[in-house]
Amino acid sequence: MKHVIFIVVLCIINVYGRVAVDVHHDDINLVAGVKPLTKNESIIKTHIDIENVDNAVQGNLIHVNISIAKKPCVTKTLLENIADNDSDDNNEFEPCAPEVKIDNGTALILTPLIKEGKVKEARKSARVDSKLFLGFKSYSGFLTVNETYNSNLFFWFFPVANKPLNSTPWIIWLQGGPGASSLTGLFDEIGPFTVINETLKRNPYSWLSNHSLLFIDNPVGTGYSFTEHEDGFAKDMATYSQHLYTALKQFLQMFPELRPAPLFLAGESYAGKYVPAMAMEIHKRKDKIGSDINLEGLIIGNAYVDPDMISHLAWPFYYFGLLEKEQIEIAKPLIDSFQQAINANNSSEAKNKWNSLVTVLLFLSHQKHAYNFLEDELVVGRYVNFLRTTPVKRAIHVGDIKFGWVNMTVNVKMAPDFLSTTKPMFERLLEHYKVLAYCGQLDLMLPCVFTSENYRTWKWNGSEEFLNATRFPYIFNSKLAG
Ligand SMILES: *[C@@H]1O[C@H](CO)[C@@H](O)[C@H](O)[C@H]1NC(C)=O
Ligand SMILES: *[C@@H]1O[C@H](CO)[C@@H](O)[C@H](O)[C@H]1NC(C)=O
Ligand SMILES: *[C@@H]1O[C@H](CO)[C@@H](O)[C@H](O)[C@H]1NC(C)=O
Ligand SMILES: *[C@@H]1O[C@H](CO)[C@@H](O)[C@H](O)[C@H]1NC(C)=O
Ligand SMILES: *[C@@H]1O[C@H](CO)[C@@H](O)[C@H](O)[C@H]1NC(C)=O
Ligand SMILES: *[C@@H]1O[C@H](CO)[C@@H](O)[C@H](O)[C@H]1NC(C)=O
Ligand SMILES: *[C@@H]1O[C@H](CO)[C@@H](O)[C@H](O)[C@H]1NC(C)=O
Ligand SMILES: *[C@@H]1O[C@H](CO)[C@@H](O)[C@H](O)[C@H]1NC(C)=O
Ligand SMILES: *[C@@H]1O[C@H](CO)[C@@H](O)[C@H](O)[C@H]1NC(C)=O
Ligand SMILES: *[C@@H]1O[C@H](CO)[C@@H](O)[C@H](O)[C@H]1NC(C)=O
Ligand SMILES: *[C@@H]1O[C@H](CO)[C@@H](O)[C@H](O)[C@H]1NC(C)=O
Ligand SMILES: *[C@@H]1O[C@H](CO)[C@@H](O)[C@H](O)[C@H]1NC(C)=O
Repeated sequence: MKHVIFIVVLCIINVYGRVAVDVHHDDINLVAGVKPLTKNESIIKTHIDIENVDNAVQGNLIHVNISIAKKPCVTKTLLENIADNDSDDNNEFEPCAPEVKIDNGTALILTPLIKEGKVKEARKSARVDSKLFLGFKSYSGFLTVNETYNSNLFFWFFPVANKPLNSTPWIIWLQGGPGASSLTGLFDEIGPFTVINETLKRNPYSWLSNHSLLFIDNPVGTGYSFTEHEDGFAKDMATYSQHLYTALKQFLQMFPELRPAPLFLAGESYAGKYVPAMAMEIHKRKDKIGSDINLEGLIIGNAYVDPDMISHLAWPFYYFGLLEKEQIEIAKPLIDSFQQAINANNSSEAKNKWNSLVTVLLFLSHQKHAYNFLEDELVVGRYVNFLRTTPVKRAIHVGDIKFGWVNMTVNVKMAPDFLSTTKPMFERLLEHYKVLAYCGQLDLMLPCVFTSENYRTWKWNGSEEFLNATRFPYIFNSKLAG
């Protein structure tokens, strides 16, 4: 059966890993240009200088604040040379703690072993000490996807327990962003454990209970994935889909028993591009010898598939009652220039305008983020400190590669991809694979209505049947679940 299923999840789903904008409410340059609506001081902040908003949000920051307050420190020699030793100003300096050289091991690059055919050895060295991870068996390491630039994708694989690997479905998880680590999916969404107060806790809802899970940090530079060359970052779909396919091929050399297992590619938000792009790479080689990968389906959540899904960004703020018409009117110049950039197919420009528009809408509606307007704080990235500890770094073979749950370099490099569409890919893939599209309906960035309306425009040999289908409530354990 080839069909799309829509599940509007009524419970609160935190849809992480998508790009929001940093909304330091007081930092936005407020300059006259647009007249305030009323004389009320609290609304006067609606003077918005479109140009300055652009400048204010350059870099397209993820909103959630996970930085750790740290006093600046100075080295001993520098401290000795500070001329004015009596000044109170020196209180802001602290001598740096002597640097401890803890050995965090080295990053495990598996590709050379795989190339030499030493797959057993590769597999053995990728093994993660399960004692540190509540006993869950797993493997991790790096797969080289471009040797010229020494670009490597990091993976962390959890085989299903107590079930045969070769027939149990397996899922590859790709986070959105672009530039958000798939370890967010592992620790905050579908993986077997989560970090609470720096301690691992079991996740009773993990998808691992019935599937093997493979998390890949993608594109290069995201999470623990890295490149050693400025030009190694992906700027387009051709590059990231090629990288993902190359990594998958190497991974399957290490775990050949997974080849016959039904494979599902899953992800949310920006992964609405990665998931079908990777699927197409597999599909293109479907009948070629040695490329037998049993792709069974695709799973996308609040997915960004097509520019049409984001072009009416402002309206949910109005319809959810977060903004009134006059406030939307304030953002009108930005809405128009965003639309123009989309019409001109100018990705970088559209991304800038989109950023600005999101910033303004969040600012006007006093929202801290755009992923669940019922929650003030989005708890995400709690796992990061845990991941940076020496025992964990050693256990998952990452050495001293820097980890950030969002890599802004990756995000910025991907700007030319912003307006790409994967709609034609889905239209082809739907004739061969199952597609599950779900959405959490409190998301303001890719609201259910815009994603669903776009799905309804897809043309494939089952689209008539799909449009004809009746929408049913999703009942789980006798309760409405979606
Ligand atoms: C402006 O609106 C705020 C919030 O509704 C209210 O607390 C404040 O008293 C108002 N100020 C004036 C000057 O009307
Ligand atoms: C982020 O956290 C740091 C340290 O706690 C704090 O100084 C800073 O003001 C915070 N930024 C925002 C935007 O909340
Ligand atoms: C400043 O104070 C430090 C420690 O109190 C001392 O070691 C250093 O010699 C002083 N430097 C100068 C320039 O007086
Ligand atoms: C090893 O990791 C720890 C914890 O992140 C860090 O403090 C230390 O500097 C690292 N060691 C080296 C040699 O970089
Ligand atoms: C590595 O990346 C560069 C730039 O994207 C590309 O020109 C080159 O063909 C890539 N090499 C391989 C082996 O994929
Ligand atoms: C985490 O620790 C804080 C402070 O010790 C405590 O207030 C909080 O309840 C803890 N959270 C959980 C989920 O255990
Ligand atoms: C796992 O699969 C079994 C049967 O295949 C099913 O009974 C069970 O409900 C599934 N568990 C979860 C958590 O989905
Ligand atoms: C982003 O990726 C680049 C390339 O791997 C790396 O040099 C940089 O440190 C990363 N930034 C963060 C915040 O992780
Ligand atoms: C937009 O531009 C990209 C290349 O920059 C091109 O591949 C794509 O076909 C264009 N889309 C439209 C709708 O013209
Ligand atoms: C996109 O728009 C920007 C700003 O208007 C302009 O500098 C740039 O040349 C445009 N790019 C393309 C490919 O038209
Ligand atoms: C759609 O096309 C595919 C491939 O040609 C075929 O296998 C499938 O049965 C068709 N589905 C329907 C509903 O006609
Ligand atoms: C669509 O629904 C109509 C009315 O129930 C039915 O006659 C028709 O065969 C359906 N078409 C498809 C493709 O299912």
